[in-house]
Amino acid sequence: MEDQGIKGKRLLFFPLPLQGHITPILQLANILHLKGFSITIILADNFSTTFDNIRANYPHFTFHTIYDGLSEDDKAKTDIDALFLLSLFNQRCVPHFTEALRELVLEDSNIVCLLSDSILHFTKAVADRFKLPRLVLRTGGVCSLLVFAAIPLLINKAYSPLQGMESVQEEAVEELPPYRVKDLPLFKTCNVDALYQVIEGMIRETKASSGLILNSFEQLEQFSMSKLRGDFPIPIFPIGPFHSHFPASSSSLMSQDQTSISWLDTKPPKSVIYISFGSVAAIEVNDFLEIAWGLANSNHPFLWVVRPGLICGSEWIELLPSEFLETVDGRGHIVKWAPQQQVLAHPAVGAFWTHNGWNSTLESICEGVPMICMPCFGDQMVNARYVSHVWKVGVQLENGLKRTNIENAIRTLMEDEEGKQIKERMLELKEKANLCLKTGGSSYESLRSLTSYISSF
Ligand code: UDX
Repeated sequence: MEDQGIKGKRLLFFPLPLQGHITPILQLANILHLKGFSITIILADNFSTTFDNIRANYPHFTFHTIYDGLSEDDKAKTDIDALFLLSLFNQRCVPHFTEALRELVLEDSNIVCLLSDSILHFTKAVADRFKLPRLVLRTGGVCSLLVFAAIPLLINKAYSPLQGMESVQEEAVEELPPYRVKDLPLFKTCNVDALYQVIEGMIRETKASSGLILNSFEQLEQFSMSKLRGDFPIPIFPIGPFHSHFPASSSSLMSQDQTSISWLDTKPPKSVIYISFGSVAAIEVNDFLEIAWGLANSNHPFLWVVRPGLICGSEWIELLPSEFLETVDGRGHIVKWAPQQQVLAHPAVGAFWTHNGWNSTLESICEGVPMICMPCFGDQMVNARYVSHVWKVGVQLENGLKRTNIENAIRTLMEDEEGKQIKERMLELKEKANLCLKTGGSSYESLRSLTSYISSF
């Protein structure tokens, strides 16, 4: 419902133009639009991204496109080292974003604040120039934000966060329970110093922001939230899960294969394993083949998203042997990109084998689907630890990606007593996710506070 303090006020959003980041920021924009705010999204024109789907699906928003500042030379560097993009983007985009803000603020005196992805830390100084309050959206979990904030401490204690420490993988990180060394974020980059700088900038400028918005809810990350409130002395608004505030709307940058749903319609309740590793992760050919045979040997039906680019050195599924395809004929369905929220909500889906990107993790919790965790990089390690060891709503694939391990994990979740208990806990967590958005629930109340906070600008 519209409020007097809201009417006419316009909010500027600036997403990081990657699927796992653009989805939650558009959802947040939608939530605030439903409260009555007008919305402008600033899109940085990115090397390979097209925003046509987004423009079509959000006709009620105004879009303003800017040049991302990346030269051909920069793009070649980020093609080799995708994470370097985060660092270059924070440098190269500054003049273009400054110009855009100048133009937009001059044009419209109703603009009251900027909401940007926490990774885009350069936006703080630019917003300050125009005396615009800047709120930050942390697209991932609070648990991983706290791990990123602890990186200086970890380095001090002789850990090498972000780079991996092969020999002590199983050891507990005593300074940071409940993690083992192998649960610390790991990134494949040639330029770890640049990555440290991005993370340091993200933490520093989040603490200096006018507020932090979280796609999470109190009951999910209670302990982390109270630590966060102690360490980040700014207004904090956990208003998630974002996607549950309204019926599914697509912010997918790729087109979603609807045969996923018609195929699921033919399968019995809770029988299917859904497999997807998100929009960025890549796996080696050998791992791909082990996954295929693990699925085949499990004897369970499966819907598998093999995104073009998922398998290093291969276009799509051409490396799958004909023997595999014959074995799983009718039992397995492979697509390039699925309507994931609809898939997870489908009654036929019984488990989600995921890389534990934060969006996928939350979407699975909201639909009560237990997980098989296979974190690939970054915050995914932290999220997987929470899923398997804190909330205990999934099993983590440990000890290498071998077909027998895969088969065992699937059987544990789909057939064993342990799987039954995991499902029960997952249903309890799903219920908590539902309740937090209802009148009087924690996210409902936090959204009210956020709305009145922004209205006061
Ligand atoms: C990235 C990082 O990898 C992740 O660790 C971080 O938490 C967010 O940014 P991504 O790898 O894409 O994200 O994973 P995730 O956060 O799970 O987001 C993927 C989104 O794409 C989800 O909203 C999911 O519903 C959607 N999706 C995925 C589809 O619509 N179709 C698919 O086939 C697969």
